[in-house]
Amino acid sequence: MLKATNDTMIVTIDGPAGSGKSTAARGLAARLNVRFLDTGAMYRAVALKCLREDISLDDQVAVGRVARSAAIRFEGDQVRLDGEDVSTAIRTPEATKASSFVASNPAVRESMVELQRQAAKNIDIVTEGRDQGTVVFPNANVKFFVVADPEERARRRQLDLKRQGTDVALVELLQEIQARDARDEGREIAPLKPAEDAHIINTSNLTPDGVLDEMQRIIEVSLGNRGRK
Ligand code: DC
Repeated sequence: MLKATNDTMIVTIDGPAGSGKSTAARGLAARLNVRFLDTGAMYRAVALKCLREDISLDDQVAVGRVARSAAIRFEGDQVRLDGEDVSTAIRTPEATKASSFVASNPAVRESMVELQRQAAKNIDIVTEGRDQGTVVFPNANVKFFVVADPEERARRRQLDLKRQGTDVALVELLQEIQARDARDEGREIAPLKPAEDAHIINTSNLTPDGVLDEMQRIIEVSLGNRGRK
């Protein structure tokens, strides 16, 4: 897994919603001082555009067209859709639900995979999603698959929503998480699963820093000093 020092480094972090993968991916990118790519935000942006344009999520052709026409950009912590900052709008429960439907559309995935590969061209990157290690970057330098117990994931999601001012019952979130997992794992195209060479990290009993320490340790073992920027 060692690579030439003048190559770029790609670290993939995949896993289900609420596993702690986003926090880990952001934190790891900051520790390594490399770019972070939130690929879920891209599917969310396509979903938001469909909702706003009243496109039926069952209309595969129309949804695919929306994905191709959407200008999705990242600026610092902001996600921009056709020039507008949609960082908050893509996180509503409605957009969350819609995103998992658009993510099962092959035309949408084709467009997003292309954008993701472009985003990683010639730069070091930590990229986070469901298919980054399996489909988008099969030759990534280090791959992680982050998991956590469903109850713990529901609790974390509840806390996140509370911070945003919304109270949602735990049982409702647990059901939502399980339904979304089933859709993400059961879909024909790019289903959620660990790459064969992924390191599995269970975050249920780890602090966010503990997760990062473990990831950094694995990167250092895999890449030597290259992982210690
Ligand atoms: O990680 P997230 O919750 O923001 O992702 C939103 C949806 O997009 C989720 O249903 C899974 C899907 N997704 C995907 O299919 N592939 C990715 N690489 C990232 C997200």
